[in-house]
Amino acid sequence: MKIKEAASRLNTTPRTIRFYEEKGLIQPEKGENDYRYYNEADLWKLQTILALREVGMSTSKIKTTLQDENEVRKYLNMQRSALYEEWLEIKDMISTLDQMLEQPSFSQKDIFTLSNHLKDVKQKRKSWEDQWNFDSQAKDYDKSLKRSGFRFNVHEFYEEALGSAVGFVKPVEGETGLDIGIGTGNLAEKCFESGASMIGVDQSEEMLKVCGEKHPTIDTRHGHFLALPLMDKQVDFIVSSYALHHLTDEEKLLALQEMDRVLNDNGRIAIADLMFEDEEQKEAVMDQFEEEGNTEAIFAIRDEYYGLRSQLSGWFEQHGYRVEVKRLSDILHVVYAVKV
Ligand SMILES: C[S@@+](CC[C@H](N)C(=O)[O-])C[C@H]1O[C@@H](n2cnc3c(N)ncnc32)[C@H](O)[C@@H]1O
Repeated sequence: MKIKEAASRLNTTPRTIRFYEEKGLIQPEKGENDYRYYNEADLWKLQTILALREVGMSTSKIKTTLQDENEVRKYLNMQRSALYEEWLEIKDMISTLDQMLEQPSFSQKDIFTLSNHLKDVKQKRKSWEDQWNFDSQAKDYDKSLKRSGFRFNVHEFYEEALGSAVGFVKPVEGETGLDIGIGTGNLAEKCFESGASMIGVDQSEEMLKVCGEKHPTIDTRHGHFLALPLMDKQVDFIVSSYALHHLTDEEKLLALQEMDRVLNDNGRIAIADLMFEDEEQKEAVMDQFEEEGNTEAIFAIRDEYYGLRSQLSGWFEQHGYRVEVKRLSDILHVVYAVKV
């Protein structure tokens, strides 16, 4: 078909199609009088180009991306995550405006407090960074679980922690679950063995790639704890293992708020993670490591953000959850919360 017909089929203009041809993105066959002829494959390619432009990809990026279907998928996944983040920002802005307007009268101070809160949340979402380079750990992650540290092995009770999280949540067939910081998918695997469909969120593309190869049925999504790429009340349960301690204590609370947003009524959450019971126990454990001269443990703990179990439980209780906890070691606990 000629350019005019192709343009009308794709709801675009001949000028746009010519532009993509000039950029070398499509090469239609040339017939008599230099007329271009577009076949079904050209149309399909053009449709993909238009869709990728629509979601913000540059033409030069489209050119390289189109050579590899996996690259297109990866890009779309990243783009979805960015759009969810923007959507959450807009949602927060609307709710702040609602709060302002609900007040019969307000002072400049009230407005300042609300807008500052908004700015703060936005900044926290944007400022989280992967200081540990999880992309570089992805390929060997599963093997590394079997290697123990010299004097400090955080994975000593790994299987017990994952088993305990699943034991609390008890996924059932037909449910949809979410694993945040899914890594290579070891915890999600245990959940879908019970018949639940699983969505896995991770900020590391490489972890998601390994997870997708091991478990093609898991819906792997690029995203992070502070802006989950999911709609409100989309999942029946949430699990997370060895991931939350990569967030500061303040960020952890924002992450719990995000979990609460995407969790259905009566939903369950199980967090198996490196954490202390409370400030007092943290101090005692750290003193003990100091006394033993266990610098390996001290360094490892200070390199991350081990939280406090009491802080997580407290947040859940304040937000109407029923909470149970399980201690697996001095530094490993499971917090289970049911939205009631
Ligand atoms: C130590 S691995 C744990 C993986 C898996 N949950 C397990 O138990 O084997 C931590 C994972 O959490 C992910 N992660 C850390 N911080 C994150 C964040 N803020 N948002 C999303 N994923 C995060 C990392 O990319 C990594 O895949």
